Amino acid sequence: MSFLKDKRIVLGITGSIAAYKAVEVLRELQKRGAEVRVAITPAGKKFITLLTLESLSSYPVYDESVPERGTEIFHTELAKWGELLLIAPATANTIAKLACGIADTPVTDLALCFGKGIIAPAMNVRMYKNPVTQENLKKLKTLGWEVVEPKCGYLACREVGKGKLASVSDIVDSAEYWFTPKLLKGKKIVVTAGATREYIDPVRFISNPSSGKMGYALAKVARGMGAEVTLISGKTCLTTPYGVKTITVETVEEMKEAALKEFEKADVYISAAAIGDYRPTEYSTEKIKKGEGSLLLKLERTPDILKLIGERKREKQIVVGFAAETENLLENALQKLKKKNLDFIAANSVKGSSSAFGSDRNAVLLIKRNGKTEKIEGTKEEVALEILKAVAETLKNLPNGNTAGNRNV
Ligand SMILES: Cc1cc2nc3c(=O)[nH]c(=O)nc-3n(C[C@H](O)[C@H](O)[C@H](O)COP(=O)(O)O)c2cc1C
Repeated sequence: MSFLKDKRIVLGITGSIAAYKAVEVLRELQKRGAEVRVAITPAGKKFITLLTLESLSSYPVYDESVPERGTEIFHTELAKWGELLLIAPATANTIAKLACGIADTPVTDLALCFGKGIIAPAMNVRMYKNPVTQENLKKLKTLGWEVVEPKCGYLACREVGKGKLASVSDIVDSAEYWFTPKLLKGKKIVVTAGATREYIDPVRFISNPSSGKMGYALAKVARGMGAEVTLISGKTCLTTPYGVKTITVETVEEMKEAALKEFEKADVYISAAAIGDYRPTEYSTEKIKKGEGSLLLKLERTPDILKLIGERKREKQIVVGFAAETENLLENALQKLKKKNLDFIAANSVKGSSSAFGSDRNAVLLIKRNGKTEKIEGTKEEVALEILKAVAETLKNLPNGNTAGNRNV
């Protein structure tokens, strides 16, 4: 699932050296299910051809020659058709025009019709830092425009600084967020994800096959729903979702430290990380030499982070756990919910082929504190959305003064 499925997006391209990256943005929007039509400024056409854009969007591009060509795409029609105007890259010039209501190119015409949308600026660092550009961006934000901040890096002008077009995934994530219901606006959410590692020696460790996809999906959807999200991540190969603050950790001890600290400020804590239960009692600072016989490892329990969180849970804080079980799913999950003072537990079977480890899909039984259960199945983002909707509903219904301990969700 993607919040972009069947969404109609107008991609505005302006005269930046980063215009070639708009092709990747277009492809990624389509990959996530959106229908895309393109508008381009005369300067933009110097950087990228209409043939490329028309081939990929399967539709005529709206440029300044459209009226002469007699093509039936006028800015007003395109603005009625589109649900979002995404300008990527956005030049300093177009940003200035947007801030002043000037409509003298196909992209600025459209911007005035849409009223708001998303812009991804790309320009030289001095152009970006210029107080006029900064004032223009500030004004656009107050008018409801979302700005996908450029990155720092080596710029086309061979200078280093802020001005590099944001990554394609950040730009397209921000388009997804545009369409995500804002049920968690203003809430602080901490999500843990990925696998922990416990080192035996400098080159060997004990871990598990968690991909981190469920936790990353929760972080992304929560951010899209308007929450301020902190992701505490063990090892994964995943890209951090746009706008999510990430703290990377390796060991359970590191995860514990970060989790307890972040939980202090959180409204919601979701434990989706696959946290190792055991670690070697001893760590060898030198690589253990391979011997002829077997090697016996003595293991000890790691701290139970979720239990510590449950013990510290204050009034109005919500804690969600995951239970990966191979047998007696419901009983084991319910026991965990009670023992750890959780508000919700999402139980999933990790047995055989139905295992959620590494998969893009998941099937969980969401169990509430009062014993009510709900079966949720789908892509990890669909599952994340349903879990977060249940959390949002609970947050909304929190009676003043009631304590987390006796709350009936
Ligand atoms: C090679 C080249 C690269 C440029 N790159 C950028 C850029 O990355 N960002 C920017 O704001 N302007 C850039 N410009 C300047 C714009 O193309 C110029 O301001 C133009 O008027 C923008 O028109 P538009 O906003 O209607 O597309 C570049 C110009 C040239 C010649």
